[in-house]
Amino acid sequence: MRTRFTHLAGVVGSPEVLPLSPLKGAEMAALPVVRNAYVEVVDGTISAVGTMADCPLADDGWELRCCQGQWMLPGFIDSHTHLVFAAPRVTEFRMRLDGASYHDIAAAGGGILNSAAAIAQAEESVLLDALLARLETARSTGTVAAEIKSGYGLSLDAERKMLRVIQRARGLQPMPLWATFLALHALPKDRPRADFVADAVDRWLPQLADEGLVDFVDVFCEANYFTADDLLRLAEAAAKRGIELKSHVNQFQSVGGIQASVAAKARSVDHLEVLSDADLDALVGAWGTGYGPMPVALPHCSLFLNIPYTPGRQIIDAGLPLALASDCNPGSAPSSDLRMAWSLATHQMKLRVDEGLAALTANAAFAVNAHQRMGRIQPGMDAHVLLTQPMPDYAELPYFTSENRIAQTLIYGR
Ligand code: NIG
Ligand code: FE
Repeated sequence: MRTRFTHLAGVVGSPEVLPLSPLKGAEMAALPVVRNAYVEVVDGTISAVGTMADCPLADDGWELRCCQGQWMLPGFIDSHTHLVFAAPRVTEFRMRLDGASYHDIAAAGGGILNSAAAIAQAEESVLLDALLARLETARSTGTVAAEIKSGYGLSLDAERKMLRVIQRARGLQPMPLWATFLALHALPKDRPRADFVADAVDRWLPQLADEGLVDFVDVFCEANYFTADDLLRLAEAAAKRGIELKSHVNQFQSVGGIQASVAAKARSVDHLEVLSDADLDALVGAWGTGYGPMPVALPHCSLFLNIPYTPGRQIIDAGLPLALASDCNPGSAPSSDLRMAWSLATHQMKLRVDEGLAALTANAAFAVNAHQRMGRIQPGMDAHVLLTQPMPDYAELPYFTSENRIAQTLIYGR
């Protein structure tokens, strides 16, 4: 299958094969652009990028697509979602509007435990159908690949059910998916914490990993949830099996999760709404000598819970990379819309247009260890791209706060 996209207003990408390392600091604002461009895709892989002046004329065997006035951008990679869930949590939404906080609701036995009760009751096939529908929705706003976490199971059987849903979704739709065993998300009522941590880390992880259901592990490292020591213990058990850690850290308080994640060589550190100077220094130190954990901001969570936005401007100005993800989940971020996350990142976090795009593409790919295959438009990369409606400047995508001006999202060029 050979497709040539012609007469594009432009491509955010490069004719040359550029290095695939994550984009840090000032690099994020300087993405390569080819104006008046064409792109060739052969069997799902980008094979050429260039200007129309150099566009080959031979058309036998090629499917030709004239994209007059449209832009082609790398598709968005959602490196942090909780897309398997049984039901929205609208009762808690009403409670919060009456003045209760996220913590009040959790302390009263709601929150994550609420979603866990619903998962325990739900049929696997019902969860699967809901996931497939949510992936379609995400695709309409530019998502081409997604990481999906378990963590609403809180028992071996229910965690396995969630991870199996992700596994089965792989065969039923085209989007590349990563399954994360969110081993330590909340402590079930009446479970001694030492027992629960030992179960999740020493018994469930090995079984689920042996069943081929685990690409990454995760932990909610936060006051009233799990500690930096729990994080280290999980990371160590996972590392023995060649599985990397992604962590929920610094959403409400700084409790040493970033330092522990750096020590554990985590793939990413996600949330970071609260970031102390020592936390930032730990990340700068980690990235100073090579690759550290990718900082991942989740602006839908800040919007929905009305908590501070991750200081993305400060993170980039410190010379670090930054990724953006949706965190789509029923309790703190009920949206998979990454185009809107880009918009929030520019309007609320003061990221520049290209910084937001780099955060959703090349850097997001690093956050799931897929940067060798996706996140950029250049020869050799998988053709996971989006086409805008005709527009003079792709800045219209984040400029509009709610209007979606993405015309099409292509996965392996289809
Ligand atoms: O990323 N912070 C922990 N986990 C999710 C929210 C979980 C929930 O409330 O259902 C998050 O925000
Ligand atoms: Fe999350």
